[in-house]
Amino acid sequence: MPRHLSGIQPSGLPHIGNYFGAIAQHVEVSMTADPAAKDALFFIADLHALTSLHERAELEQHVRSIAASYLALGLDAERAVFFRQSDVPEVTELMWLLMTVTGMGLLERAHSYKDKTARGLHANVGLFTYPVLMAADIVIYDADVVPVGHDQIQHVEMTQDMVTHFNTAFGGEFLRRPEWRLSPTPKVPGKDGAKMSKSYGNDIWIFEEGKALKKSVNGIVTDSRPPEEPKDPDGITSYAILELFLDEAERADWRARITKGGVGYGHLKGAIIEKMDARFGEARHVYRELLESEAGMRRLEETLARGASLARPMAQTTLARCFDAVGMGNAARRLRR
Ligand code: ADP
Ligand code: TRP
Repeated sequence: MPRHLSGIQPSGLPHIGNYFGAIAQHVEVSMTADPAAKDALFFIADLHALTSLHERAELEQHVRSIAASYLALGLDAERAVFFRQSDVPEVTELMWLLMTVTGMGLLERAHSYKDKTARGLHANVGLFTYPVLMAADIVIYDADVVPVGHDQIQHVEMTQDMVTHFNTAFGGEFLRRPEWRLSPTPKVPGKDGAKMSKSYGNDIWIFEEGKALKKSVNGIVTDSRPPEEPKDPDGITSYAILELFLDEAERADWRARITKGGVGYGHLKGAIIEKMDARFGEARHVYRELLESEAGMRRLEETLARGASLARPMAQTTLARCFDAVGMGNAARRLRR
């Protein structure tokens, strides 16, 4: 299969938007990956998280939490290469090379930067140059396909531009051009109806349960229309979230009932909780065990260390090729480091 690669930031706990937009397809890809070909790579983008998180303990905790989430949700870390971005420092070296072929205008057009600053997020230079690090992440492993949610399309398109600029500037096919791939549910709304995001405080954590889950789901926006009033399912945030968990027959049934009248927001929220319990109930136990037992923590560390030992030589090979391309050659010397 073409080589798949994707990353997720440990800037908070993974939410159901991450799950339906990205993690579910990563888990699926990992199950048929070929370990010899290293055709599936997934990583925890801790360097990216530093653009918004400067709490050491929190960052460490989120990295463990994301790692445990992936394993609990079924990622096959024997078939796929699963690692921590910062364990492969070569990626920041390649980022520099890419920065020198990237126009300011390209980065100024980035939606994610514009959205985050519009929401009042303090913008550091790291946040601005973040798409270049993401491009380095992708091209350093010669990835073909990048499975992501809708909000990341532009970043992969920017990567394509950087590949073209680099290859044109240095006269050769040094970097591979990646394509993005969306899940069937690439745009999950948050509790306020806007895109669900860790940084917007409108997210529902995948492993939330019991009272805390109830409280979280109760926070989904509603209006004052009574249950008996017929409604358009497409205008209801709690239905949009419930629909992620429904099969086709269930979807038709809920849609018909909402349109006819008689379904209240309480019904929809109760159904979301039931579906989350059914979908994630078992994984919650595995998740907790991984984080709360010494054996679990060891397994997380060993998994990530193994992933890094597989990923790093791949990155070193690409970096050597690129240093050669720009005229700072002696690839052999670089590979020996
Ligand atoms: P966040 O925006 O919460 O910080 P990340 O930026 O770490 O999440 O995203 C990790 C992956 O999850 C990316 O592939 C991204 O496209 C996907 N993703 C994030 N939010 C959503 C969403 N609301 N709907 C669908 N996919 C999403
Ligand atoms: N920027 C991505 C996000 O916020 C995370 C990420 C970093 C990524 N590097 C990547 C995703 C490389 C895909 C490929 O979701």
